[in-house]
Amino acid sequence: MALLEVAAIHTAYGLSQVLFGVSFEVNAGEVVALVGRNGVGKSTTMRSIMGLTPPARGHVRFDGQDVTGWPAYRVARAGIGFVPEDRRIFPELSVWENLDIGRRGKRSGGGWSERQVFELFPDLEAIRSRRGGVLSGGQQQMLTIARTLMGNPRLLLLDEPSEGLAPLVVENLRQQVAKLKASGLSIVLAEQNLSFVLSLSDRLHIMEKGEIKFSGTPAELSGNRKVLDRYLTV
Ligand SMILES: Nc1ncnc2c1ncn2[C@@H]1O[C@H](COP(=O)(O)OP(=O)(O)OP(=O)(O)O)[C@@H](O)[C@H]1O
Ligand SMILES: [Mg+2]
Repeated sequence: MALLEVAAIHTAYGLSQVLFGVSFEVNAGEVVALVGRNGVGKSTTMRSIMGLTPPARGHVRFDGQDVTGWPAYRVARAGIGFVPEDRRIFPELSVWENLDIGRRGKRSGGGWSERQVFELFPDLEAIRSRRGGVLSGGQQQMLTIARTLMGNPRLLLLDEPSEGLAPLVVENLRQQVAKLKASGLSIVLAEQNLSFVLSLSDRLHIMEKGEIKFSGTPAELSGNRKVLDRYLTV
């Protein structure tokens, strides 16, 4: 049984329908990418999974439970961690205090310690007393991911982690996400940046206008010029 099953979800903001029957699965330990241009529904898919914008139709099942319509805090407690695209760190709090906040609402049973988080993100340890507001974009992204890990998720939803970061910083982040994968964490990665996700993903789904138009492995996608040209900016 898949860890996450998204089954034919339809999601709208008021009268404006954005998702039209999106379905995919994530098995334990897998990294699954949602790729596509601006406004195709990647973030809305994540918000639907998380219960922030609940789907009007369809189902989200996580770890054998139907979590459709659950409030976001309950979905988080069930083990899904969400890193939204707008890196919501607390600017007045230190790196360490930002991490500590991630501990609240923690799923019970073991999980990431401060030590393990600093092992994954050594750069954060060096700046642990610095205020969140003065961090660089890359540091803020690491901090947001680290804070979410403190809640001990089994599945991590990462929304456009590479957005707005310089190439070297993106490469550093890619290596850290690879380490997260190696630790056994399951990840859903939404990205416009195909090169960021190709080496990380087990499977990719290309979205357009609220639907999945192509699903395949990185090898299947890289070899498919037609799909690349049609749905992605490469
Ligand atoms: N709060 C909202 N209210 C109304 N419409 C919204 C809202 N948020 C997003 N939309 C619309 O829903 C569609 C899908 O947006 P979404 O943010 O899911 O796309 P995305 O693939 O994440 O894009 P991006 O790459 O820009 O992050 C877009 O047309 C967008 O304008
Ligand atoms: Mg988005």
